[in-house]
Amino acid sequence: MLFNKDQQDKLRGVQTPFYYYDLNLLDATLESAKSAADKRGFHVHYALKANFNDRLLERIQAKGFGADCVSGNEVQKAVDTGFPADKITFAGVGKSDVEIKTALRHGIFAFNVESIQEMEVIDELAGELGVRANVSLRINPNVDANTHHYITTGLDENKFGVPTSELERAASVIRDSKNVDLIGLHFHVGSQITDLNVFKSLCVKVNEWKSWFEERGTLIRVLNVGGGLGVDYLHPDEHAIPDFEAYFDIFDRFLERGPQQEVHFELGRALVAQSGSLISKVLYTKSGVKKHFLILDAGMTELMRPALYQAYHKIERVTQSDNKIINYDVVGPICESSDCFGKEVPLPESARGDLIAVRTAGAYGEVMASRYNLRNEIRYIYSDSL
Ligand code: LLP
Repeated sequence: MLFNKDQQDKLRGVQTPFYYYDLNLLDATLESAKSAADKRGFHVHYALKANFNDRLLERIQAKGFGADCVSGNEVQKAVDTGFPADKITFAGVGKSDVEIKTALRHGIFAFNVESIQEMEVIDELAGELGVRANVSLRINPNVDANTHHYITTGLDENKFGVPTSELERAASVIRDSKNVDLIGLHFHVGSQITDLNVFKSLCVKVNEWKSWFEERGTLIRVLNVGGGLGVDYLHPDEHAIPDFEAYFDIFDRFLERGPQQEVHFELGRALVAQSGSLISKVLYTKSGVKKHFLILDAGMTELMRPALYQAYHKIERVTQSDNKIINYDVVGPICESSDCFGKEVPLPESARGDLIAVRTAGAYGEVMASRYNLRNEIRYIYSDSL
């Protein structure tokens, strides 16, 4: 059970829906990832896009992770939270001039550059500000992550990175630029990857392209292999902490790196997903011609993943019940048929007022919430206040 008896009692009067964050589980997850990475001399930047809730960020920063940002606001947020500038990277296919200048003024560690034109703009803006910029070139390695097509990023048809056919020209633009230093290569092939063989294939590509640059006399200091490690949505209690040892071990074994070469990661989901749950109340129960519905006070506006990616999240009651099991379609209040957290979910017969937990919602949950239907701002509760 997510909550003990005492916590269940305390939750009785609390206004729903809200995100619940288990800070102890977060700390244990961070510790597990950090120690497995440190042991191998790997650097991990936390991908803020997965969740930029203040309390979570403070703990992630305090643990010594860097920050991987995808907007000027995320860069600013990372700085404000205390992430040292030399541990902040800025990625994304569409960085605006204002965002690039924000990052340049903060003197961030590196830009992950996604096109030749972007490199030219960074060079020009750095010149205007009288600073130098470190860049890692994002290469699209054409590796299939075997994940949902919305979150696959490393295929030829995806918009991300510089295609390998353009690398010759990219290298020459970098050589000609006055204010840009190429320090690394960047790769990211997708998210929610549970088959570690995908990362093995990625290592092969990284080795290949690293050699390509070295053969042309360019030493690559940073090998940034992105993020993407998946979590177990089916078994949040049994596999609360991802197997970071196995994940980092792949890169340790299959990535060829010289003594001065650093390996960088950008993990988002794996660090925060299991620590968050969306807690909601049953507003109504109703039985249609073919279905039993549980209508919750949370919907796709609070957690968009099921509607957007048909993503599975485990749904459970917050309190124990011996009632007979009914297969419910668990839906939200939003005026869209896709506003459904799960179909035919076996749950004890439930009633108005019962609390329901939607698990593994700590990553890409709160951050993707919207005000559609003029819904309330999303609320949250941390484990240390229960
Ligand atoms: N680095 C880059 C360049 C990325 O694009 C991403 C995620 C990450 C790192 C972090 O990936 P992670 O370790 O979290 O898998 N909203 C979707 C996921 C989108 C992922 C976008 N990029 C979802 O809810 O599944």
